[in-house]
Amino acid sequence: MGSFPTGVAVVATAWDHELFGATVNSLTSVSLQPCILLFCTTEGSATGAAIRKRGLFSVNILGAHQLDLSARFTGKQKNRFEDLAVAFSSDGLPLLQGAAAQMCCRVTTVHKAGDHDIILGEVMSGDEMACSPLVFHKGAYGHFQRA
Ligand SMILES: Cc1cc2nc3c(=O)[nH]c(=O)nc-3n(C[C@H](O)[C@H](O)[C@H](O)COP(=O)(O)O)c2cc1C
Repeated sequence: MGSFPTGVAVVATAWDHELFGATVNSLTSVSLQPCILLFCTTEGSATGAAIRKRGLFSVNILGAHQLDLSARFTGKQKNRFEDLAVAFSSDGLPLLQGAAAQMCCRVTTVHKAGDHDIILGEVMSGDEMACSPLVFHKGAYGHFQRA
């Protein structure tokens, strides 16, 4: 699958007075009516567990200028939101400022699949910004270039 280039997103939620967020590239569009997307989280994912419990999450599609956020939300830093420009949705979901797109979603279904969970969410609201997306391919980051 490393041969399949993807975008990069941070999925995030707030649960039990704590913010959770993780970098994912397993984000996929599933349905248009209603608008449903999915992403997969590994069994031990703290963010995946918080999202399952809260039942709500945000999706922040990273722009090419946000490579540092991709690294931060996969790294060992205890509070990944520390010193970041974060806004909050009406449901208290963290939204990373400057992202290429932001969506607020409601968990509809969780499927177990091997050592991962497939989390499906209905998109309740969304917003996008005119900027170039961050791209991930064969373990490396890149930029999108129009063919
Ligand atoms: C580009 C990139 C894409 C990633 N995609 C996923 C993914 O789709 N699912 C996943 O479980 N982990 C993915 N990871 C790894 C998680 O970001 C990492 O395990 C993170 O520490 C999980 O945090 P958590 O324990 O708070 O959930 C990805 C990492 C990178 C750098």
